Amino acid sequence: MYETTINNNTQLDVSAFIDQRNQAFINHAKAQLKNLDQYSTEALEWLMMEHYQFSFRNTKFLADAAKLTGSFDTDAVQKELIRNHAEENGHAIIYKKALKKIGVDIDTRTEFPSTTHFLDTIGEIVGREPSTVLGAMFATETAAIFEHEVFLEISNEVLKRRKLEEEGKKLVWFHEMHLSGVEQSHRDELGVFLQGLPLDKTVVEKDGHRPTINTQQAVTGAELAIEAMTKWWADLLDQIRADSKTRDFATA
Ligand SMILES: [Fe+2]
Ligand SMILES: [Fe+2]
Repeated sequence: MYETTINNNTQLDVSAFIDQRNQAFINHAKAQLKNLDQYSTEALEWLMMEHYQFSFRNTKFLADAAKLTGSFDTDAVQKELIRNHAEENGHAIIYKKALKKIGVDIDTRTEFPSTTHFLDTIGEIVGREPSTVLGAMFATETAAIFEHEVFLEISNEVLKRRKLEEEGKKLVWFHEMHLSGVEQSHRDELGVFLQGLPLDKTVVEKDGHRPTINTQQAVTGAELAIEAMTKWWADLLDQIRADSKTRDFATA
């Protein structure tokens, strides 16, 4: 049994190994958001405001990551991060306006320390050496797909409860737009640099556009990012569970 596990892991490449770790986190968080009936409308609206914080900071993460990955021995990763950054630029403003249209005003938000801690942690990771940054960005772009999936469902649920389907069209579009290939391509275009890299080889020399990658650092970057996302989501879910107990469902 033990041997089978080892064999499976050695057969996995770096991107598949990171995906396996990410999937465990995603499945766990998704399971807790499967039944939205247990959460109050206010709690779900609050959750959207916290997700917006990531959207707001994301362009800075991408800009920093692009800068850092300039020290790789090819410019392919940096080019992809610059492309990603250009695509994300302006999204936070759209998100904020779309939320305002359904009565969720980001400017009224009070700080949630766990979100601050999470964003600071990601900010610190994307300031490390390039392989770490690549692994971390690959992990967060993979999780972005899950986030837009759950926030599309949460948005639809809130709009239905509040009878704001018309006002919420832009918000629904925002998540659907990200799910129509945007996030998938962010993930896949970073994944190509980690695909086929054996886990048991510490340094994989550059090959064509792909730079020399320290596989252990890439895995570490991804694991640190997944650990930070796991903790953040646990805190978010604890908070909405607690808020849903004290708030009035009847107003929903
Ligand atoms: Fe975006
Ligand atoms: Fe993305």
